[in-house]
Amino acid sequence: MAVTSRTQVGIVGAGPAGLLLSHLLTLAGIDSVLVENRSRAYCEARQRAGMLEAGTVELLRSAGVGKRLDAEGIEHDGIYLQFAGERHNLNFRELTGGRTVTIYAQPEIVKDLIARRLADGGAVEFSASDVAVSDVTEDRPVLSYTDQSGVAHQVSCDVIAGCDGFHGICRPLIPDISVYERSYPFAWLGILADAAPATDELIYSRHQDGFALYSMRSHTVSRLYLQVPPGEPLENWPDDRIWAELNRRFKVNGSDWSVSDGQITDKSVTPMRSFVAAPMRHGRLFLAGDAAHIVPPTGAKGLNLALSDVVVLANALRAALVDKTWDQADAYSDTCLDRVWRATHFSWWMTSMLHVNPEADGFDQQLMLNQLRYVTSSRAAALSLAENYTGYKPVRFEL
Ligand code: FAD
Ligand code: PHB
Repeated sequence: MAVTSRTQVGIVGAGPAGLLLSHLLTLAGIDSVLVENRSRAYCEARQRAGMLEAGTVELLRSAGVGKRLDAEGIEHDGIYLQFAGERHNLNFRELTGGRTVTIYAQPEIVKDLIARRLADGGAVEFSASDVAVSDVTEDRPVLSYTDQSGVAHQVSCDVIAGCDGFHGICRPLIPDISVYERSYPFAWLGILADAAPATDELIYSRHQDGFALYSMRSHTVSRLYLQVPPGEPLENWPDDRIWAELNRRFKVNGSDWSVSDGQITDKSVTPMRSFVAAPMRHGRLFLAGDAAHIVPPTGAKGLNLALSDVVVLANALRAALVDKTWDQADAYSDTCLDRVWRATHFSWWMTSMLHVNPEADGFDQQLMLNQLRYVTSSRAAALSLAENYTGYKPVRFEL
């Protein structure tokens, strides 16, 4: 027999979306149960995003989880765009009248949120199995799972939030969902290295042999990416080959600048995909973050989008469950999808412009190079990139 209990919001997934949602709901006086099928250690170690929009930083700060972010995050005024062996700086602060971006790694956000949930006595179940959701078109949908010690639970909820990422169980519960997708004929080989970054801001480089990105995690740890064919075996990339290829793709004409190398501590290959599912709600089930949409990482949007969904959802659930008005909940999917499609376009555009597409012909390649020349020479074009990169129409949590 399962142990039965009651909560207001059942949340599936302890990624950034699920964790922030449970925290914001607590601030709004709404209780939740969060169920995650991986261990806490796994969630805290997963290497993912690194770049936060100005609005995301403000959100985490205003929600009271920005202390370490303020101490350890690295604020950047802009980025470099490199092509044809020339490096150009785009200064977002100057272009947008003050907006910046901040490097603070996703695992650090996850650690901060988990620590805060546990300190507040939040119900977070890690390493759960048999996680399932039912009755989403009833007033009392059910979240069921088996806990670490083998005890089965059934939680009766007012609402379920599917924050369970791209491979989760919630999206398939929406019948007749429309899916829009694009997969790209390349992937990213990402490394983490104990090396002081040789750049003050991120470098996005288009090279004839493929894209490369120079990012960082701290003043002593670099994060670098190389465009590789999809499904590329890691064995093809011994450390020496990676450093040589990075130096080739970041080479600046007439300069002896080079990437600073060091011990590689993590190596992985990530496929590149755009994916949008609509609607993001069915009955009492609401999807947020990667459960509903994926963008290729070239625009640094995925994490920021996931957290924006959560703010819209937290505001809507407070209106629904505290003030008993469901208008915001009814508008949830459309409100989010407007931002999602903007980010989807921006991420597709950055990806197309900066990567070498093996299926593209000379005409396409010239268009992409010309687009890069335009963005680095026209203030209007640079401002459009800056507005999207730093975060278009940031959302606010109504405390
Ligand atoms: P996830 O982080 O995927 O979390 C979902 C959680 O649900 C996971 O913990 C999972 O274990 C859990 N789960 C799944 N199924 C179940 C189940 N059945 N039961 C219980 N739990 C379940 N974004 C940016 O904004 N900026 C960047 O610079 C950036 N760079 C990136 C670089 C790379 C290489 C990659 C891969 C991604 C990058 N992203 C970036 C994207 C960003 O990491 C994601 O968008 C973000 O993780 C989405 O958060 P989420 O909480 O929606 O989903
Ligand atoms: C990262 O630091 O991991 C990162 C930064 C910017 C991107 C993608 C990834 O566009």
